[in-house]
Amino acid sequence: MNIRLILPCAEYKDKIWNYKKEFELAGEEPHGTASLNSATDFETWLKNTLGEMNEETVRPGLVPAWTFLAVDENDEVVGMINIRHRLSEYLFNFGGHIGYSVSPLHRRKGYGAKMLALGLQEFRKLGTDKCLITCNKNNIASAKTILHNGGVLENEVINNGETIQRYWITL
Ligand SMILES: CC(C)(COP(=O)(O)OP(=O)(O)OC[C@H]1O[C@@H](n2cnc3c(N)ncnc32)[C@H](O)[C@@H]1OP(=O)(O)O)[C@@H](O)C(=O)NCCC(=O)NCCS
Repeated sequence: MNIRLILPCAEYKDKIWNYKKEFELAGEEPHGTASLNSATDFETWLKNTLGEMNEETVRPGLVPAWTFLAVDENDEVVGMINIRHRLSEYLFNFGGHIGYSVSPLHRRKGYGAKMLALGLQEFRKLGTDKCLITCNKNNIASAKTILHNGGVLENEVINNGETIQRYWITL
């Protein structure tokens, strides 16, 4: 159950595209992937995703964010996680600092909790000691992933008719 976080790069093109397909087959949205679901070609997605890492190159209206691949011992991409450097009004209210997903083929092996723990280590490098993570109230798996990492529920808010839970993790 050993995983590590790496930045996306061209070497992982096929594995990242497979990750996208695994979500398409499952009819799910791949959270924490810098919109891999709407990407039409890998090269543009990679360029945009790397561009979003810096204040100078992030697209207008977005905050800078790191996107990492979580890879297992076999170098397979089992998850992805997106770490936003600060909160916009929308992120403060609904989106949070971190979004993530684990491939539908690799769920319930502990990867989600471990990936978030590794993501929090990266988040700490930003010099912020409180991390906001949100999830839909129906998303038991995500809520447990947050709770496993010390999340404390602040409140529940409504966005587009969905109940969103807002958790803080103090680092
Ligand atoms: C949320 C998600 C990342 C969890 O990944 P995972 O690798 O399956 O999580 P883990 O194996 O680390 O499990 C974490 C905890 O959640 C529980 N869990 C996982 N899937 C569950 C499910 N479907 N129902 C209930 N509990 C579940 C696990 O049992 C574990 O708790 P436990 O240790 O008390 O038993 C994964 O389900 C996912 O990618 N979901 C779709 C995307 C998503 O919802 N992202 C979050 C957006 S807020």
